[in-house]
Formats: sequence, C-alpha cells, structure tokens
Amino acid sequence: MSYPYQIKSLEAYHKDYNESVENPEKFWANVAENFLWKKKWDSVLNWNFKDPKVEWFSGAKLNITENCIDRHLESSGDKPAIIWEPNNPEDRVRVVTYNILHKRVSQVAQMLINNGVKKGDRVCIYMGMIPELAYAVLGCARIGAIHSVVFGGFSAQSIADRLYDAGAEFIITCDGAYRGDKVIPLKNVIDDALIGNRSIKKVIVYTRTRTPISMLKGRDLWWEDEMEHAEYQLEKQGKIHFPAEEMDAEDPLFILYTSGSTGKPKGVVHTCAGYMVWTNYTFVNAFQYQLGDIHFCTADIGWITGHSYIVYGPLSAGATSLMFEGVPTWPNASRFWDIVEKHKVNILYTAPTAIRSLMGFGLDPLKGKDLSSLKVLGTVGEPINEEAWHWYDQNIGKGNCPVVDTWWQTETGGVLITNLAGVTPAKPSWATLPMPGVQPVLVDENGNEVNVKDESGLLKGNLCIKAPWPGILRTTYGDHERCRTNYFATYENLYFTGDGALKDENGYYRITGRVDDVLNVSGHRIGTAEVENAINMHSGVVESAVVGYPHDIKGQGIYAFVIIMGHMHVNDAETRLDILQTVTRIIGAIAKPDKIQFVKGLPKTRSGKIMRRILRKIAENELSSLGDTSTLLDPTVVDEIVGGKL
Ligand code: PRX
Repeated sequence: MSYPYQIKSLEAYHKDYNESVENPEKFWANVAENFLWKKKWDSVLNWNFKDPKVEWFSGAKLNITENCIDRHLESSGDKPAIIWEPNNPEDRVRVVTYNILHKRVSQVAQMLINNGVKKGDRVCIYMGMIPELAYAVLGCARIGAIHSVVFGGFSAQSIADRLYDAGAEFIITCDGAYRGDKVIPLKNVIDDALIGNRSIKKVIVYTRTRTPISMLKGRDLWWEDEMEHAEYQLEKQGKIHFPAEEMDAEDPLFILYTSGSTGKPKGVVHTCAGYMVWTNYTFVNAFQYQLGDIHFCTADIGWITGHSYIVYGPLSAGATSLMFEGVPTWPNASRFWDIVEKHKVNILYTAPTAIRSLMGFGLDPLKGKDLSSLKVLGTVGEPINEEAWHWYDQNIGKGNCPVVDTWWQTETGGVLITNLAGVTPAKPSWATLPMPGVQPVLVDENGNEVNVKDESGLLKGNLCIKAPWPGILRTTYGDHERCRTNYFATYENLYFTGDGALKDENGYYRITGRVDDVLNVSGHRIGTAEVENAINMHSGVVESAVVGYPHDIKGQGIYAFVIIMGHMHVNDAETRLDILQTVTRIIGAIAKPDKIQFVKGLPKTRSGKIMRRILRKIAENELSSLGDTSTLLDPTVVDEIVGGKL
C-alpha cells in the first residue's frame, strides 16, 4: 500500500490546496483512484447548500469493507490490523491480523443475515471497546446495514430515544464492559431501554464480563453461538469470506447521534464513498502515517473520533490501529505510557482533557518509561490550552514529535483544520491550516466575511465552510429539514460549524469554542437544552438554566441554575443528589452538572426569554461585565443569584 496523495512538504501542501480549490473534481478524482471500486463514478461532485444536497462520486459502486480489509490481504494478510489492549494490564493482548479481521467480519455479516438483517436496516451497537465492536461495525458495512453506535456511557432513556429515531430493529451489545475498576452492565441498560419496545427483533449479546443478565427467549441471542453457526455455514458453502454488498457511493454508511442546541440529539448521516475517501486522506496526511506505524487513538468508538481514526481511516490505509479498552488513570496514571512502551506506539492521538488530567499527576508516572517510539502526537475534541500543549510536546514528545491539533466535528466526518505532522508549521493551541478541499471563512452575525482585524491583529468571527469536502454530513436521519436549519440556514450558502475562531496573518485558525448552546465537557458534546430537559424531569424542579464555565481539567464544566418548588426543598444536598440521579437516568453520567445552584428566579427579558449571557458571566465569575440588567423583567434576581454563587 502506498499513499501517492500524501503531502510531503509545505510547497506540496500549498500546491495541493490550490488545486483542490481550483478544480475539486479533478483533485478528488485523482485521490479516489487509489481505492477499490466495483464501478467508478459518473460524476465527482454535485452540490448546493440551499437544499442542502451533496453528492460525491455519484454512480460509483463500492463496499468500504473491501477497502478496509480485502484489498490488504495479499500484501498484509498476516500484519496486525488491530492490536487490542485490555482494561486490565495483566490480561491477554489480542492481535487481530487483516486475515483474522476478514474472517470475523465475514462471520458477523453471515450472522446478521441469518437473523434477518437486510441492506439499509439500522443496527444499534452498544458495546465496550473490544475488537468485537470493530467486527460488528464492519460486519454491518459488509452487508450494507446502517450502524448506529451508541457510547457506553449513555442511559437507557438515551438509547430508547435513539432506537426510536433510527427505527432500529437490531441491537448488538455485551453483557458488560470494563472501565477501570468498574463494570458497566450494558445488557441491563439495554433491557431497561427495551421495556415496552415492540420494534426490536433481535439482541445479540457478546460475553465480556460475565455480568449476570437476563436473556429473553426469541429475542436475545448469544454472539458466540451465532458466530459459530455462521462460521459453520460459511465453511459448508465453501466460502472463505462473505461477499461484500455492492453499495452506491451515496448509500448511508452509518448514523451517529450528536448534540445540538435543541433538547433532542440528531442522527448525523455519513455515506459510503465520500466518508471513506475523507477519513483515509486526512488520516494519511494529518498524522503522516507510514506503513507499519502503530497508531493509537485513545477515543471510544462510540464517538466520531473512534469511527474515523480507529476503524475506517486507519484500516482503509492498511494501518495498525491500537484499540484500548480502559481509562488513562487506571490502575494508575502511567497507563498510556505503559501502552506506548509495550506496543512501541508511533502515533498517539488523544484529547486535551486527558492531557490535562495526566498533567495533574506530575512527572512521576513518566519515570523510566520508554516513549522513544513516538513520532507524532495529536489532539482532538476541544481547544487545547498552551500549557497543556507544551507539556505534551516537552514531556511526551520530548520536543521531537510534531503535535497536530486537529479540529473537526461529528458532522465533518474527518479533520478539517490541522497542521500536517512535521510538514506544515505548528503553533501551540492553533489548529492552523485547512486540509486541501476545505475552504473556511469567518463571518460576522450577518454572514458578512470579517476583514477588520482586532487590536491584536487577528480576525475574529463565526467559522463557516464555503464548499463541501467529501466527508461532510449528508443529512440528519429522518429529518432533512433539521439538517438544513441547523447547518445551512444560519448563513446563506455556507456550512455553519457552531464554532468561533480567530485567524492570524499567516492564515492560521484558532478555534475558540462553541458560539451556540452546546457544551464541550471533557471533549464530549452536550446540549444545554438537553441537560435542562433532564433536570426539569425531576418532580421538584420548576425551571432550570444550564451554562458552561471554564474547568481546569474538563475544559468546560456544567453549571445549572435551578428553581425548585418551595415545599419540596428540604435539604440542598439531598435535592442536588436527586437531580444528579435524574440526569444520569435521562442522559447518562457524562451530562451530570458540576454545580447546581438553587435560585428563586432566572434573569428573563420582558418577553420571557432567559438571558443566558448573564448566567454565563456569573458562572464564569466575570461579575464586573454583567452588562445592562435594567431591562430584565425582575433585575433583583441577578443580585440574588450573584449572592448565592457557588
Ligand atoms: O467545538 C469544536 C470542538 O468539538 C466540537 C465537535 O464535537 P464532536 O462533534 O463531538 O467531535 C469531536 C471530535 C472531532 C467542535 O465543534 N473541537 C473539536 N476538535 C477541536 C475542537 N475545538 C478546538 N480545537 C480542536 N482541535
């Protein structure tokens, strides 16, 4: 496998970038020539952002799993595709070669067909970070079923909402998942999600933790039995593999739910060809992957980062992807460094929140650890502060490894803005330059391009993208209008990212964070409206307002202002715990507020709109810049809230 489209110099970057903007069709057709197609495209790109409608490689036929597996078998069948590091460091590492991956994915495909899953059906996957999760994802793609992976930290209610929205009829899960010293009872959560559900036909359960579970006759099946049967069938038919379904370039590959500014998560839809080309291209270029390198992305496959840079990007490039079941701080804060040393990791890709939390343990956990295999470091998920950037660069990279700060989103499929490791310049806490094919623009509130620099010589505005790149979302599942209003209606003919950004004299971008009502807590995206809805479910709550505030480790913390019914408000501490429990039930523990302040009223305009700007300032402790509060319905509530601030 070679990567003729890998950019090797700054000059080559500029050349490719210009070509990609001047003639995107030609540029991306050239890149796409390096993939395995059952039939080539009739046209490279058709689009308008008005509907919106985006089609890449129209008319082409392919199966992404042939690109991720089959085409590597001849040259790399015995090379590791996935190296799996278990939660417990004493447990056995599993090395999954491309040959084994091929076999397992074929078995999953057969198993799904045996259980009535058809092309286009939605399969919900709710599993821990084990190789079977990758097999399940790829097995769906093999037969053209649409996978929708739900992160293991989401509650039964969240799963039920997603199952309903996706119209899913099949689930693949585990009895439980290990996370540090905890066992998460995944199947029990699924059972709760399925109370009263009549749509789910089959639940396939892999045994990981031997957690006691109930198996419902006729609906629930053991993965092990089903896989064995599938293997027998494949052998009986003399098949070495399950033939890959022929997919249209624009057939959906997966749905992944993510939070927006409304209370209801939306199902972002990615399609087969564009997503494949984009994740592969960005993987090979951002990290400057060299064949044989061990790539360790610490994300969970429940999020887009895991989809794109544990599974599809690396495997389509014939890479070795290291998959980790555990957490960075268990059994101790050396865990990542032990893994790097043990597996001679070359590329480490993690989140600023993990870096900040490990920084907090000082340098002792690094003592005696051999990190010399590392060549490239990456970050993703939230803005990285300069202190964390330098700590990562100095103590992990020893000043020798380029740090790539990759900015992107669930909706973008892969990285849009980043420096390319060692090829284009880095600037601490700046994502820097756009990938070829990406045309960013900063606009003001009216959608006009900003061109007046601020006092530090920087342009500042809302980050939009002018034209589609192959990995852009195509729709939000079942509700195209929602996709339009969310991303394409704020500013005419632009994709709006929801992020604010700065641009310097070199054209480098720095992402400053969300400008909408979306929080980024430890790199997890959570809508304020979602958390408010969950808090309001508590029987004692009258109303609530949620904002973010700066948090040393998580990046952002969740601050909730809550009005409670007088007669039920007996004990602050107990009520707080009840509210936290409610949020955990409705969304999951990741959305639990860090602070809950009980208030008598919320600052509202005369028309009844909550003035979140004021609450944000209070939560951020910027009390001197609350602005004019005299137009509020009841200005005295502000003093009361400031007085009771936590
Ligand atoms: O605010 C940006 C932030 O994460 C948001 C996207 O979240 P999600 O869809 O969950 O995807 C996370 C992984 C790609 C963005 O709108 N974000 C992501 N990467 C960065 C970032 N903010 C600053 N710098 C980054 N490198």
